[in-house]
Amino acid sequence: MCGIVGYVGDRGSLDVLLGGLGRLEYRGYDSAGVAVLDAEGHLGTRKRAGRLSVLADNLIAEPLPDGATGIGHTRWATHGGPTDGNAHPHLGDDGKLALIHNGIIENFAELKAELLAQGDEFTSETDTEVAALLVGRAYRETGDLTEALRRVVARLEGAFTLLAVHRDQPGVVVGARRNSPLVIGLGEGENFLGSDVAAFVEHTRRFVAIGQDQIVTIRPDSVEISDFDGNAVEGEESEVSWDASAAEKGGWSSFMAKEISEEPEAVRNTLLGRVHDGRVVLPELDGIAEVLAGIDRIVVLGAGTASYSGLLGKYALEEWARIPVEVELAHEFHYRSPVVNERTLIVSISQSGETMDTLLAVREAARLGAKTLSICNTQGATIARESDAVIYTHAGPEVAVASTKAFVAQAVALYLLGLWFAQLRGSVPAERIAGVLDDLSHLPEQFQEVLGVEEQIRTLARWMSDTRAVLFLGRNVGYPVALEGALKLKELAYIHAEGFAAGELKHGPIALIEPGQPVFVVVPSPRGSAKLHSKVVSNIQEIRARGARVIAIAEKGDAAVLPYADEVIPIPLVSPFLEPLLAVAPLQMFALELAAAKGLDVDKPRNLAKSVTVE
Ligand code: M6R
Repeated sequence: MCGIVGYVGDRGSLDVLLGGLGRLEYRGYDSAGVAVLDAEGHLGTRKRAGRLSVLADNLIAEPLPDGATGIGHTRWATHGGPTDGNAHPHLGDDGKLALIHNGIIENFAELKAELLAQGDEFTSETDTEVAALLVGRAYRETGDLTEALRRVVARLEGAFTLLAVHRDQPGVVVGARRNSPLVIGLGEGENFLGSDVAAFVEHTRRFVAIGQDQIVTIRPDSVEISDFDGNAVEGEESEVSWDASAAEKGGWSSFMAKEISEEPEAVRNTLLGRVHDGRVVLPELDGIAEVLAGIDRIVVLGAGTASYSGLLGKYALEEWARIPVEVELAHEFHYRSPVVNERTLIVSISQSGETMDTLLAVREAARLGAKTLSICNTQGATIARESDAVIYTHAGPEVAVASTKAFVAQAVALYLLGLWFAQLRGSVPAERIAGVLDDLSHLPEQFQEVLGVEEQIRTLARWMSDTRAVLFLGRNVGYPVALEGALKLKELAYIHAEGFAAGELKHGPIALIEPGQPVFVVVPSPRGSAKLHSKVVSNIQEIRARGARVIAIAEKGDAAVLPYADEVIPIPLVSPFLEPLLAVAPLQMFALELAAAKGLDVDKPRNLAKSVTVE
């Protein structure tokens, strides 16, 4: 939550900051602000509640003198509402220092009391202002911004990325991080800081991810990293595998529409280089292969959509690898006394790799002795770096708050992991593994076919735009799809939606069915398990008998469904494990179209942010 960008170089920083904030706005859009410093030490700040466009319009109406050093922030409010006053930057040292923050300073109340007792005045309700005032005081004592920040971070508890500039140090931006992300963009005669690489990918693809409890000082020609104790740290340079155009909307109506259209490519890229001669090859696991041979249990951790792809992974891992798998919401795992040990493999799933709930759960599992493997989409993200191994999904940047292509890519990565384990344990014949891999290789074309149902979905969504509640049913691998369909609808169209395991219907949820109630049903292929198929068809009959309006997502030509469904969304014939990947796309499109039909902002739903980097 909250997007942060910093710049030092030889050009006006405002363009860089606003461009970076535009690409980081998915992290929060309650307010935005910038601080700009010129070579003569003139420090100007501007901040406005609302979207970035409000700030940008204001800067056009009343230009701020530009400078070659600057910091910018886009906020997802935690402490204090989304007002101009609570927007960042916050000031310290009598207005000579500007500071921005992502995270939550948990001990801010006691620090604030201390500062008030010393005569400081506060102009906001934020926890951030405490840090600004403290760094201001420390600067007065040290005369050096890096040292000042170092002194202050030692006193802060919680999660923070802080960036600061000081009027007396033009050409310097200092950043510090604990439990929140920060990456350095390396340029020629200029350097950048950002919450993620999207902040500066337009200018450079070279980056260094800053580690936990580290401080960085950037100048136009230098980058210095040190730990909180002042020891120098060597940063490891990497290169972003995509360019700025991948994070642009192009001609699409929304990032979400674009990202759904990229699902075939996401599948292709996640498979790329990982299948050879009918076998899965995951060199990423080489370093922990020996340990993996001895594990007796897998715990999959994630939040939201990532937890649903994890559930899909459970079915595949248990079927192929024959290892018991539990799937748990990361935030629940963290706050109980989980039983894990060195024979447990933790598989964490996170598109951003920065979700705080997941990160903390991974750390807790590691502390208890478990091995950790992450499935991550963002290169160099904290969860990836803190895990013993990482399988990157290579789905490309996902900008829309609603996760779409990441879900599909995560499931593919989990399937690869399941097949890899099956190879290791000899639990599935080689021909069957080769068969699944072959099926996976055809998935991108089949996706294209599914994406062709767009018009049918649009019509359905328009017809349903006044709907107040929608239910989703699925069994087996269709169940996570039902959960995901419901989540998409809630977050995008603000409609009450619930996903149920179809077998659970008669244990309560069927009471919700009344005449006209729309119910999406994910129907398994009769060719996979005839028994499962007939159970779901029976469930459809049960709800239909009570007046439900049934929208079935079913294999093309599934005649058994036709008499009972009001609408059938056809998906191509694929093997059972691949069905959920195709079935989820129409549900994603449905949520998008319904939100659009209601005139809502599809990419930036209310109250949400893309990366949940606070608990
Ligand atoms: O970045 P992550 O995959 O860790 O994010 C996890 C969830 O916050 C995320 O999937 C969320 O549920 C999406 N907004 C759902 O569309």
